[in-house]
Amino acid sequence: MTETVLLVGGGGREHAIARALAATGATLYACAGNRNPGIARLADGFAEVEGTDVDGVVEYADEVGATLAVVGPEGPLAAGLVDVLEDAGVYAFGPRQAEARIETDKAWQRQFMREQGISGCPDFETFENADAACEYLDTYDGDVAVKPRGLTGGKGVRVTGDQLSKAEATEYVRESGYDEWVIEERLVGEEFTVQAFVANGSVRVSPAVQDHKRAYEGDEGPNTGGMGSYSDAGFELPFMTEDDYDEAARILRETVDALPEYRGILYGQFMLTADGPKVVEFNARFGDPEAMNTLPVMRTEFLDVLTAARDGEELPPLEFDARATVCKYGVPEGYPTDPQAGTKLTIDEESVGEALLFYASVDEREDGIYTTTSRAFAVVGVAESIGGAEKIAESALESAPDGVRVRHDVGKPEVVGRRVDHMQQLRGE
Ligand code: AMP
Ligand code: GLY
Repeated sequence: MTETVLLVGGGGREHAIARALAATGATLYACAGNRNPGIARLADGFAEVEGTDVDGVVEYADEVGATLAVVGPEGPLAAGLVDVLEDAGVYAFGPRQAEARIETDKAWQRQFMREQGISGCPDFETFENADAACEYLDTYDGDVAVKPRGLTGGKGVRVTGDQLSKAEATEYVRESGYDEWVIEERLVGEEFTVQAFVANGSVRVSPAVQDHKRAYEGDEGPNTGGMGSYSDAGFELPFMTEDDYDEAARILRETVDALPEYRGILYGQFMLTADGPKVVEFNARFGDPEAMNTLPVMRTEFLDVLTAARDGEELPPLEFDARATVCKYGVPEGYPTDPQAGTKLTIDEESVGEALLFYASVDEREDGIYTTTSRAFAVVGVAESIGGAEKIAESALESAPDGVRVRHDVGKPEVVGRRVDHMQQLRGE
C-alpha cells in the first residue's frame, strides 16, 4: 500500500524530513503557517495551516487521507496535536502531549530525571514565582543556568559566568515577565546532540551533532534557534570518545525505559563535562538544524521507521553513510533580536553546487520568496571529512542572497580544533 504522509511544520528541519520521505515513494502532503517552497515542491499538496491549529490539521489530514503523520516542531506537540490526530485515527510520529512535557515543561523534566534516577542530571531547584527564584540566586554559591519553565524557542535561558553576572541574572528573572523558573548548576564543557528514533520500546540512535546556538562567530551574542551544525563520519565528534557517545546513548535508553509510552524523536542535548556527559535538556523532536545533518546520511528509509512505529513493531536498525556533514544557516539581518521580516530573497538554486539547499522559515508568495522573523535557509555539505563538508557548504554560500547573515565559522578546522583543545584542557590531558 502507498502511504500518504502528512508532514506538519515549515522549517529547514521539515524540508529535510520531506526530502527523506519524498525519496521513498510515499505520497506527501504538508501544512505550516508559512509556505516553504522546498517542501511545497516535494509535496502533492501544501496547506497554509499552523501546526498549533490542531482542528485545522486534523481536517487537512482527513481531506488528504493521511495514513501517517510526522510532527516537526515542538509547538504542535505542546498543543496536543498527536493526541488529537490519534483520536481521529491517524498515527502521528511524535510524543503525545503528556510525554512531550519532557521538552515543554523544564521543571517536570528535571523532576522526572530526579525521581527516576536518570544519569546526568545537574543539581537544580524549581520555583513558582520570580521572587523565590531571585532569593535562591542571591544565596547560591556558584554559576547557574536560569530557565523559564516553558517553551521559549531556545532563547529564554541565561547562563551566569558566561553571558552575564549573577546580579544581571537576578534582574533578568525579575524583569522578564516569566513566573516559573528552573535554576540549575552551570555545566561547563562542549555541547552535543544525539537524536534517537523511539517507538514500541525501541531506541535507535544517530550520529552526534554539534549545533552553534550563539548568533555571532566565535560564540558571541545572544542565543538563537541554532546557526549551524556539523557531524563527523562516525557516531562521535572529534572532541569526544566512544565511551562518551555510549554514555549519552545509555542516558537516552534509560529515559525511554522510564517513559515507555514515548514515541517519536527523543533529542538529548548533552554537555560533555570533565565528568562525562550531562543532560542540558531533552527535546521531543528532531533538532533544527540537526535534522539536516542526520537525515541526509541516513541510509535506512525513514518511511520504514514510521510504518514499523505505527504497526507496533520493533524499529529497524538504522544505518548511516560514513560521511561528515556541515550545515550553515542563512538568517535575516537582525536575527534573533530584531529580525528583518519581509525581505525578498533571490536564491539561485543552481549555484549551490554539490551542497544540499533547505528552505526554512521563508514564505513563498506569488512574486517571490520572503523572509519571516526566523531562519531563512540552510546549505549542507556532505563529504568524507568535516573539513571537506565545510568547503562544500561555503562554496554554496558564495552566491548567498543579500539580506541574510551566516556564521561562516561553523565546521571550520580551527573552530573544531578549539573544541578538541577545550575538552583536553578540561580533562587535564
Ligand atoms: P535550552 O533552551 O535548555 O536548550 O538552553 C539553551 C542553551 O543554554 C543550551 O544550549 C546551553 O548552551 C545553555 N544551557 C542550558 N542549561 C545549561 C546548564 N545547566 N549549564 C550550562 N549551559 C546551559
Ligand atoms: N538545535 C536546537 C534545537 O532544535 O532545539
